[in-house]
Amino acid sequence: MIVLTDVHKRFGANPVLRGVNLTVPKGESMVIIGGSGTGKSICLKCILGLVTPDHGTITVDGKQTQNTNRAQFLARFGMLFQGGALFDSLPVWQNVAFRLLRGPLKRPKAEARAIAIEKLRRVGLSGDVADHLPSELSGGMQKRVGLARAIAANPDIIFFDEPTTGLDPIMAGVINDLIREIVVDLGVTAITITHDMTSVRAIADRVAMLHDGVIQWTGPVGDMENSGDPYLTQFIHGRADGPISAIR
Ligand SMILES: Nc1ncnc2c1ncn2[C@@H]1O[C@H](COP(=O)(O)OP(=O)(O)OP(=O)(O)O)[C@@H](O)[C@H]1O
Ligand SMILES: [Mg+2]
Repeated sequence: MIVLTDVHKRFGANPVLRGVNLTVPKGESMVIIGGSGTGKSICLKCILGLVTPDHGTITVDGKQTQNTNRAQFLARFGMLFQGGALFDSLPVWQNVAFRLLRGPLKRPKAEARAIAIEKLRRVGLSGDVADHLPSELSGGMQKRVGLARAIAANPDIIFFDEPTTGLDPIMAGVINDLIREIVVDLGVTAITITHDMTSVRAIADRVAMLHDGVIQWTGPVGDMENSGDPYLTQFIHGRADGPISAIR
């Protein structure tokens, strides 16, 4: 479904991606792990076209992403941004229904609101929050509003950038189950970025570890424990000693 071939991206003197190769099969859940600042979020932004790679190709369904009609291309995607990226002047329901209120996916307003409330329930929020502004919610609630927005238009590809960061363990479990359900029941292709190893085990079919600008290791989630890769082993066990320096 999604193929990155030799993708490079540099910001000034900082060569973030140095030849990323990654294949995400249709209907599978890929989890990307890796240290802070290694370029995980940038990878997702490159696929979406929010950041333009310096070199390399990205294809979705066999088509190069640069050559597609932007509106049609993006209509297939849902994205939970790491920082939430909610519109602070819009009430919660209009954030969730944002794409259902305009553009190619537009619906009548009452229908868009009803869908927003249903999606809010799916992420564990009651309809009471619908008319609040994002600033009136806790950080974890804002995160879930971002999740509800990502799934609102029933996309067939969804990216979740740190979906459980800042949530209590029970709510994190609810969100992990929801992501798994979306992939299994709806056949969605998902890429999730997380630092939470419980999430990785709950969500992933496959795991890819980004380190030093390349995919250091990739494979089925069940192969992660006995990979024999010193970088992956250090990362998943959170050890201070190993080939990955703590200073970045
Ligand atoms: N627009 C930008 N301009 C300049 N540098 C950027 C820009 N966006 C990201 N970077 C740099 O690219 C690197 C990778 O950033 P990215 O957000 O992808 O990290 P990450 O792996 O998602 O980290 P984290 O786990 O902390 O979220 C960082 O060094 C960051 O400073
Ligand atoms: Mg990030």
